[in-house]
Amino acid sequence: MAARVMMATAVDKTPSRIAGMFDAIAPRYDLLNHLLSAGLDRRWRDRAVDALGLAPGSRVVDLCTGTGDLAIATVRRADRASVVGVDFAGEMLRLAAIKVRGGGLGGRIRLARGDAARIPLADRSCDAATVAFGIRNVAEPQPVLAEIARVLRPGGRLAILEFGQPRLPGIKTLYAWYFRYGLPLIGRLVSRHQSAYSYLPASVGAFPPPPEFVRAIGSEGFTNVRAVSLTLGIVYLYTADRR
Ligand SMILES: C[S@@+](CC[C@H](N)C(=O)[O-])C[C@H]1O[C@@H](n2cnc3c(N)ncnc32)[C@H](O)[C@@H]1O
Repeated sequence: MAARVMMATAVDKTPSRIAGMFDAIAPRYDLLNHLLSAGLDRRWRDRAVDALGLAPGSRVVDLCTGTGDLAIATVRRADRASVVGVDFAGEMLRLAAIKVRGGGLGGRIRLARGDAARIPLADRSCDAATVAFGIRNVAEPQPVLAEIARVLRPGGRLAILEFGQPRLPGIKTLYAWYFRYGLPLIGRLVSRHQSAYSYLPASVGAFPPPPEFVRAIGSEGFTNVRAVSLTLGIVYLYTADRR
């Protein structure tokens, strides 16, 4: 029986609410990403791309692509790779399109407005799939994992980045304080959005712990599922191969 991804506490993930929230913070999204992670977010995305070990010319789908940073990192790091970036927040995609055009990457990155639970691509049409800091936001991760399995060819690779919670004593307490108080305050001041940066720690707290999410991935037709802790467990990189 497929392992179900359980949410520890209720966080409102109604798609229209999530899309509206990201549309509202879109203009400050990139700035806050770099600021709140002290620039580490770029390194985490590069690690995810490198973990895919893409062959030249690979076709990749980047779900919850947002402002496109992972899609852009993918085509910059992987020889002749092409990416379809999917997101349901129009304003995030509009900013992604500006960056893609500005970087002269229009021939390699296509952006599509859509829901990760209904990927607008054919069965077995992708060599790899990525999701950076998006899976925690979807209403139900399990059907999204099943959709990813549908569009990947056998042997296709999956890389998912998601926030975790450091477990090292000392670091755990410091980070918990930053995540609970510092980050929401900075996020609110810079984005001028009242709840988006309180939702972030709440949604991370409600996300399944790595061993449980590894089982959820494995139950949807993936093998070699691994969770690698990055930056003391602040982020986890999940990788897997489509059977
Ligand atoms: C935290 S942002 C991550 C953006 C980008 N991947 C990055 O690394 O910066 C999460 C994104 O997921 C999108 N999203 C959440 N649930 C989604 C869904 N079910 N289908 C499509 N996009 C979704 C949001 O609109 C938002 O742009």
